[in-house]
Amino acid sequence: MKKIGLLTGGGDCPGLNAVIRAVAKSALRNGYKVIGFKDGFKGFIENNFVDIEDRFVSGIIAKGGTILGTSNIANPFRYTLPPYGTPDSPSDLSAKVKEIFELHELDCLITIGGDGTQNMAYKIHQMGLPVIGVPKTIDNDLASTDYTFGYDTAFQIATEAVDRVHTTAESHDRVLIVETMGRYAGWIALRSAIAGGGDIVLIPEIEYKSEDIISYLKKRRANGKLFSIIVVAEGAKEKGGDLTVSKVVNNSTDPLRLGGVSYKIADMVEKNTCFEARVVVLGHLQRGGTPTAFDRWLSTCFGSKAVELFEEKKFGKMVAIRGQNFIEVDLKDAVGFLKRVERDSEEVKAAVNVGMSFGNSEVG
Ligand code: F6P
Repeated sequence: MKKIGLLTGGGDCPGLNAVIRAVAKSALRNGYKVIGFKDGFKGFIENNFVDIEDRFVSGIIAKGGTILGTSNIANPFRYTLPPYGTPDSPSDLSAKVKEIFELHELDCLITIGGDGTQNMAYKIHQMGLPVIGVPKTIDNDLASTDYTFGYDTAFQIATEAVDRVHTTAESHDRVLIVETMGRYAGWIALRSAIAGGGDIVLIPEIEYKSEDIISYLKKRRANGKLFSIIVVAEGAKEKGGDLTVSKVVNNSTDPLRLGGVSYKIADMVEKNTCFEARVVVLGHLQRGGTPTAFDRWLSTCFGSKAVELFEEKKFGKMVAIRGQNFIEVDLKDAVGFLKRVERDSEEVKAAVNVGMSFGNSEVG
């Protein structure tokens, strides 16, 4: 009987369970055995796994998080967890990876995760082992796929927040600043600002200038608009300035945790105008709870496609969506560089056309 191993790695996001369900159902109906490793590569290295049967995945399509658990620290090639390593002395556990494949006689490992996890998957593929990736992240920043699952849910949650702060901003004539996640890409901030009718959007791809934010806010006030909504991505930064780092997680694939830029902006607005400013940092709310219908649909099609690739023995690939089509791309082309908002894209143009400012007078 053929055997598929499955794990979810990196930060959690809505839709992970829908992928687990789709992989399990598609595999089980073809007579394959499926095992799920707990807590991403941590469980893989520790050989901590569960047998996945149909009842295990029953009723989970709408459930957020991951029933398998995840880790955004465990990296088999720079392992920093006990008993094999420490943050100061990471270990290369390539031999252990091979050992676990052999122990279970795995015919394939399906890795559900973002850039970090797919990088690890690519390294496993380079060792000559069969892996297939499924792209996850609320940041939607993976190259080679139009969408990653989880993004749509975060986009909806951020849009609802932008909608909701309108009434309170208007009641108090305030500047309300909504901070989204997204790491080094502005997809959540830009699209929720467009969909929610934000006034200013600040994204990592376009550095802002404080003086341009101030003059835009003052112009709005002069035109009788007494409140303003600013949507800022956690990775946005002032021209010539630095990223706002909230925490450094030394043993993580990307140690920097961003967050807090909205407080800098609120401070700057209050110092330079007579407007009151308040901040809402959305944080992990964007990753929690029920996936949207789109994410459940995407996750299901991704999971099913991953099993199809397994049947066709197409390893070293990641499933992807391009336009209306589910395709496979080489893992090596899918990792290592990010998909970011392009300054001269149609959607940046659309935002400018509806009067939105990027906090930079050179745009628009
Ligand atoms: O990559 C997903 C993401 O949610 C980013 O948007 C955010 O910067 C980061 O993960 C937060 O990581 P953690 O869950 O470790 O705080």
